[in-house]
Amino acid sequence: LLISFLWFSIFQAWPDDLLISTYPKSGTTWVAEIMEMIYQDGNLEKCQRAPTYERVPILELKWPGLSTETPAPRLIRTHLQLALLPQSFLDQKVKVIYVARNAKDVAVSYYNFYKMAKGHPEPGTWDNFLEKFMDGQVSFGSWYQHVQKWGELDGPINLLYLFYEDLKENRKREIRKILEFLGRSLSEEMVDHIVQHTSFKEMKKNPMANYTTIPIEIMDQNISPFMRKGIVGDWKSVFTVAQNEHFDAHYAKKMAGCKLKFRWQ
Ligand code: PPS
Repeated sequence: LLISFLWFSIFQAWPDDLLISTYPKSGTTWVAEIMEMIYQDGNLEKCQRAPTYERVPILELKWPGLSTETPAPRLIRTHLQLALLPQSFLDQKVKVIYVARNAKDVAVSYYNFYKMAKGHPEPGTWDNFLEKFMDGQVSFGSWYQHVQKWGELDGPINLLYLFYEDLKENRKREIRKILEFLGRSLSEEMVDHIVQHTSFKEMKKNPMANYTTIPIEIMDQNISPFMRKGIVGDWKSVFTVAQNEHFDAHYAKKMAGCKLKFRWQ
């Protein structure tokens, strides 16, 4: 953690960077692909030039290569808690797109990811994992803190707060929101083209978006595909009634006093 602090603190953001911030499993890859399509003017060939993690590098994994290998304007993504964000992003007033997803679906998605992404410790039973998730004892820490602290950043910085559930409901509307936020305009046909290319079905079969370029020893997609289900409300098929009641009571406590309005509440 100390080493992280050291290099995060000296990372130089550029004013024309665009930061995609998410708690893991909330739609990072999805919004990264949408952003790439916007930045590449819908050119599919350009968007197929490299896997997502190279086209839209992860701040905490890609530094220091980010500054030398990624030309401006950079698309960067992060899962960091707000407290760990390099100050430079704030100083440069970098635009941020935050994507939040229902914690229950995040927990289910994260559990399956823990099983297949070998860098993580064995998640144990679902019941055990859910407890750890609620406790913030998972990679990148507390979901509750993440969604609240980033949401409160709106004001000092230019932040667009999106929801996975809204993207599922109407991707075209959300892409328009993004365009307005960026101060860009695209033709109706181009927006339709982006909508089409970023469907779950298209991204699941796109090797430059579905993480199949990562060796099986690191991500075993036979255990669980990265593009797993891509739906809203999968938690209903996983949570027991008791787990759900326990989760809801804990959620109410953790989110008490939060002024943000969440899509699923
Ligand atoms: S990561 O590892 O944190 O970067 O994961 P992330 O990309 O944030 O989230 C992965 C989940 O997003 C789903 N996904 C999509 N859903 C709908 N449409 C599209 N196009 C799409 N692309 C990715 C992916 O399937 C993971 O969710 P689950 O619930 O596990 O299916």
